Amino acid sequence: MRKPIIAGNWKMNMTPAEAKELVGALVPLVKDATCDVVICPPFVDLCAVKPLLEGTNIHLGVQNIHWAEKGAFTGEISANMLKAHGVEFAIIGHSERRQYFGETDETVNLRAKAAIAAGITPIICVGESLEQRESGVTDSIVTGQTRAALAGIDAVDVRKLVIAYEPIWAIGTGRTATKEDANATIAVIRGAIREACGEETADAVRIQYGGSMNPKNAAELMSMPEIDGGLIGGASLKAEDFSRVVNY
Ligand code: 13P
Repeated sequence: MRKPIIAGNWKMNMTPAEAKELVGALVPLVKDATCDVVICPPFVDLCAVKPLLEGTNIHLGVQNIHWAEKGAFTGEISANMLKAHGVEFAIIGHSERRQYFGETDETVNLRAKAAIAAGITPIICVGESLEQRESGVTDSIVTGQTRAALAGIDAVDVRKLVIAYEPIWAIGTGRTATKEDANATIAVIRGAIREACGEETADAVRIQYGGSMNPKNAAELMSMPEIDGGLIGGASLKAEDFSRVVNY
């Protein structure tokens, strides 16, 4: 069975002092969680947060990773640098990166490969826009994104990674996908993995839902057979809210 995984994507929020306060409050609230718990703070908070996570059940993640080992890539951060900070997970290809920073299916694939090579688990984001959903192309969009993201990655590595299905229209809008729609689209994503890597791998990959997931709707979403966790934005910025999602 797939162990559920709930991850907090803090996006561009929290100074190091604020991050410490949030983690300090969060640790006791999620200590008995039955799912994997991950937080993904901004890079500048890693040093502040890491010592507070020692000996806890909270894993450290980041929001992006560059594919090169090092070199002239101003403003970027490599996988081995992050590994040295104890980072275990990396969100890759978030729709905000695709939309505002020119992230493409090709760069998502490169970043995922670099993360895997460094021993960091990618959380690869896919999802359709409102226009795409309304024109009925959701399934082909997420299938294409999934195939492209996984291109050239061995099945043994694919089975360890995490995919986050985040419909863009549900992010930060308070408009959550219905549990039936989320479940159905995640089944399509799993189908794309099955085609590319076989049944066993598809059955092993954990696929999260993300998009206005909160303490009120978490249990309902998590009750669906295809939904293996959540990628939480807004509700991950308050210890109480995030812990209630984790302890759904
Ligand atoms: P919200 O939970 O704020 O909708 O954000 C979802 C998200 O983008 C997580 O990566």
